[in-house]
Amino acid sequence: MQNLKEGELVHLIDKRGRRYQLLLKAGSSFSSTHGAISHDDIIGLEDGSVIRSSLRDSIFVVRPTLAEYITKMRKGAQIIYPKDIAVILMLADIFPGAKVLEAGTGSGALTTALLRAVGKDGIVVSYEKNTEFQAVAQKNIDTFFGKVERTDCSGELILKEQDVYQGIEEKELDRILLDLSEPWRVLEHAEESLLNGGILLCYNPTVLQIYKLSRRLELRYGRSFRTMGIYEVGLREWEIKDRSMRPEHKMIAHTGFIFVARKCTARG
Ligand SMILES: C[S@@+](CC[C@H](N)C(=O)[O-])C[C@H]1O[C@@H](n2cnc3c(N)ncnc32)[C@H](O)[C@@H]1O
Repeated sequence: MQNLKEGELVHLIDKRGRRYQLLLKAGSSFSSTHGAISHDDIIGLEDGSVIRSSLRDSIFVVRPTLAEYITKMRKGAQIIYPKDIAVILMLADIFPGAKVLEAGTGSGALTTALLRAVGKDGIVVSYEKNTEFQAVAQKNIDTFFGKVERTDCSGELILKEQDVYQGIEEKELDRILLDLSEPWRVLEHAEESLLNGGILLCYNPTVLQIYKLSRRLELRYGRSFRTMGIYEVGLREWEIKDRSMRPEHKMIAHTGFIFVARKCTARG
């Protein structure tokens, strides 16, 4: 692994776990309650180095993980949290080389994770109807693959400024992932565009949306889709301090439901 270099994005973490994001630039300096830190003192170090600020505070320097990057990146639309993205990648069975369609792009959190998971032989087509969100997403994705990720392992990205309710141009898709308010309006298009055996995954915050989606799928598309499961993800952090070891008082409780269906061929 190469040492940290100019132009890379790093996170500085203090003793209390507070995190600062920095784009390394020779000759620059970063100031905080810990005093000053010269970028030149970081450039050339190994990932995971511990340095001292001008006030002699201990600072941990790391390349952010994708989850850490997503949490800190600029938000346009509400993102899917890393805890859910982790499970979504597994439930949608995103594999290297997959052809995936996603809508809406939002801030690009899920898009970035999908691009990484499909690898250099895969394609992610992402529909977004809001121009401003699309621009934010594009920047977030470019920053991750240009200034954070070390390897050139991203899939091909096709961002479309398009309303997915109007239709899906792509055919023979392996996977379709929807994070928008009325996923049932995409069922008709997903039926045409998804390969048999392909996976449709929808992410929605309310049970009413999931209920409407599953009823519509059952009543109108029961011959084309089979519901595989509905899930939610709880991730509770624990605190270990002195002689105490217990769950954190606060947690991100409800975020969204994950609905998974598979495309099937009707016989007889
Ligand atoms: C919750 S955000 C998606 C966040 C994204 N999954 C992420 O992780 O960053 C929902 C997005 O869907 C977009 N959207 C809503 N309806 C749409 C449609 N019919 N076609 C395309 N995009 C749509 C919205 O503009 C919004 O940006």
